[in-house]
Amino acid sequence: MNENPMVPDLALPEDPAEHSLSGVADFGRVVTPGEIDVSHGTILYLEDVTVSFDGFRALNKLTLSIDVGELRCIIGPNGAGKTTMMDVITGKTEPDSGKVFLGQTIDLTRMNEPSIARAGIGRKFQKPTVFEQHPVWENLELAMKADKGWWPSLRARLDREAQARIEETLSLIRLESEARRLAGELSHGQKQRLEIGMLLMQQPALLLLDEPAAGMTDDETMQLAELLNHLRGTCSMMVVEHDMEFVAALSGDAGKVTVMAEGRVLAHGTLDEVKRDETVIESYLGR
Ligand SMILES: Nc1ncnc2c1ncn2[C@@H]1O[C@H](COP(=O)(O)OP(=O)(O)OP(=O)(O)O)[C@@H](O)[C@H]1O
Ligand SMILES: [Mg+2]
Repeated sequence: MNENPMVPDLALPEDPAEHSLSGVADFGRVVTPGEIDVSHGTILYLEDVTVSFDGFRALNKLTLSIDVGELRCIIGPNGAGKTTMMDVITGKTEPDSGKVFLGQTIDLTRMNEPSIARAGIGRKFQKPTVFEQHPVWENLELAMKADKGWWPSLRARLDREAQARIEETLSLIRLESEARRLAGELSHGQKQRLEIGMLLMQQPALLLLDEPAAGMTDDETMQLAELLNHLRGTCSMMVVEHDMEFVAALSGDAGKVTVMAEGRVLAHGTLDEVKRDETVIESYLGR
């Protein structure tokens, strides 16, 4: 088992009898990304979310929202609760109280991890999670198969469509020339891009990335910033990151940055605004 519910285990069901009459696998799908109601312009909404671990409040009435299509950077000191917030959004951790909604209507606190993933939330963990023993191309193919809809009757046509999508993704993550190499042979930065590609194969509505630039060289970091900037508008993104140059490359002059500390939002604004904020300087950036 790998820890990412969006990435399939290698034992994929092959028996067509397991699939519904339409030939499209169901696997208990609750909602599809197309069903997310973003009529109010919000893709993700958290209100007063509290999580306690043995009395310690990792999240303390955290309230924030993300606009549809937005690329939101989240910064904040170690232990601020950033990863815990992602755990709550993805159903890994159940909050003690508070609201967590995808769009207007999908209450994520009532769903489990796999159904949240299927509803359109993809999560990139800190460590790259790829199938090291399989070629890059197959990694993308397997990720797509986990997205289910690819079954029997229209096989040939689907295969052509699938192939086109894999090629498109390979070019987006700039791994065309590595397509036949084993994923295990890639550099750290390439593996990180491959994992993002695998998540993209599932066409998520919201992508959560926890410190994606950690351990990358400066060049790899800027390539990643370029990729995420390129994805703008394709899906909404929440990026937790400590590397301020990376944050600057993602947020530009106008993008909003949220600063978390002690389980709540400390400041929110453009990178310039939050950098000038006295409370942020004191608790995070240092004088
Ligand atoms: N499962 C858990 N059990 C107990 N305490 C936990 C658990 N998960 C997180 N914590 C605590 O909650 C606090 C918030 O942790 P979290 O990992 O969310 O911080 P973070 O903002 O992601 O930090 P970093 O920047 O270091 O990744 C920390 O004090 C952490 O020790
Ligand atoms: Mg963390």
